[in-house]
Amino acid sequence: MPDTEAILAELARLSSADLPTRGGRTLAYVHDPGLPGLDDLATAAHAAFARVNALDMTVFPSVVQLENDVVSFAARLLGGDAATRGSFTSGGTESILLAVKAARDHARAVRGVTEPELVVPDTAHVAFRKAARYLGLRLVTVPTDPVSCTPDPADLAAALTDRTALVAVSAPSYAHGVLDPVAETAAAAAERGVWCHVDACVGGMVLPFLRRLGRDLPDFDLSVPGVCSLSVDLHKYGFADKGASVVLYRDAELRRHQYFASAEWPGYPVVNPTAQGSRSAGPLAAAWAVVRRLGEEGYTGLVATAVRATEEIAAGVGAVPGLRVVGSPVATLLCVASEEADPLHVADEMRARGWFVQPQLSFGAHRRNLHLTVTPATAPQVPALLADLAESVRAAAALPSPNPDPALAAAVAGLDADALSAEELAQVMASIGVDPEKGALPSRMAPLLALLDAAPLPLRERFLTEFVGLLFSGSGA
Ligand SMILES: Cc1ncc(COP(=O)(O)O)c(C=O)c1O
Repeated sequence: MPDTEAILAELARLSSADLPTRGGRTLAYVHDPGLPGLDDLATAAHAAFARVNALDMTVFPSVVQLENDVVSFAARLLGGDAATRGSFTSGGTESILLAVKAARDHARAVRGVTEPELVVPDTAHVAFRKAARYLGLRLVTVPTDPVSCTPDPADLAAALTDRTALVAVSAPSYAHGVLDPVAETAAAAAERGVWCHVDACVGGMVLPFLRRLGRDLPDFDLSVPGVCSLSVDLHKYGFADKGASVVLYRDAELRRHQYFASAEWPGYPVVNPTAQGSRSAGPLAAAWAVVRRLGEEGYTGLVATAVRATEEIAAGVGAVPGLRVVGSPVATLLCVASEEADPLHVADEMRARGWFVQPQLSFGAHRRNLHLTVTPATAPQVPALLADLAESVRAAAALPSPNPDPALAAAVAGLDADALSAEELAQVMASIGVDPEKGALPSRMAPLLALLDAAPLPLRERFLTEFVGLLFSGSGA
């Protein structure tokens, strides 16, 4: 049996190729408050509750108190009142799945909607597409303006029908960091008796503090008439570890449709407020501890730092020839268009200089670009980031296009997404020098991403599925 030291050394070796989660140079996926001591607190709180099973709150009553505290904190912050109720979930996707399920079941119970539809701007987070596919709703997308990246509220209102179970808007959107028209959409929804959800997964722990700092922002939260539910992630700008989000409802009657209870089996009586059954109370305890340490004052300071850094980066981006910020971002996310150098090359060049900026592929009227999630830990490094970005753009502009040659692009476009075989996929991968069976991804991702970008959307999805399926090759062999 290997000893503890050997096993931990093995884990450390396995994580050595991962992007750094701390240090402010990874501008997506992770949220570093840059505060000494906070990680130690979260780790200790997580460890203390790691083995508590939140499945049964009657035998582990601590989880009730912890969850009520965290939900109340979020509700007070986001326009809730004494009637507001909520749940702690594993992340934004689960919060959204649950809100969509609650709205679907509510629409059936109250309005008799049997063929439910979900209306979103085309920039909505993919979690809504996932919810529609998982939960059997027809997704209705409303195109956004390619310049502002927001939908026209009149278009959203016009998409509402008697079948609409819910409409969802973002505060702000992930891809562009812009605020959707919340008040107008909620009013149109209320007029038709339709549920309105606000996806504040990424902005819910930023926008209220920006207001506190004196920023004038349109209303976006539960205080807006017609908003029925709202999702806010603590594992993003709440600076809790992953596995922490809250979904809020205007009242207990709306939340009731989220719960699952069943007496139809021979085991113990089951009520699952959220999607999971057994679940560790570790993430909840860690989130509770972080919220308790930071409080409103702590968050206000962190948001001030992150927003200042975002604005400095935005100003610096504007000064680099060929780069510009897309839309009018309101918080700590930036979408950067690169017109002279291919953004996929720029991302690779940044990676070579020790930064991760996230490539986003073309979609509808939106061209491929770069996404930056800015956190407080990046603030002291903004000058270095901007210098490396300018260098990266220069280097990327000198490279040949990453796009597949026209013959390969045409061959790819002609593939049938439903009938793609493993051999065809391997051939396509080999043509750009990738062997996924070896497990290692290329150090330069531009050719792979450009190939994906050349494929029609269903084929992109099939490629992604097959490619990741090849990576996860654990088997009984
Ligand atoms: C606006 C928005 N909604 C939903 C999500 C999904 O959250 P998660 O990745 O925690 O499931 C994200 C994640 O970035 C987001 O930015």
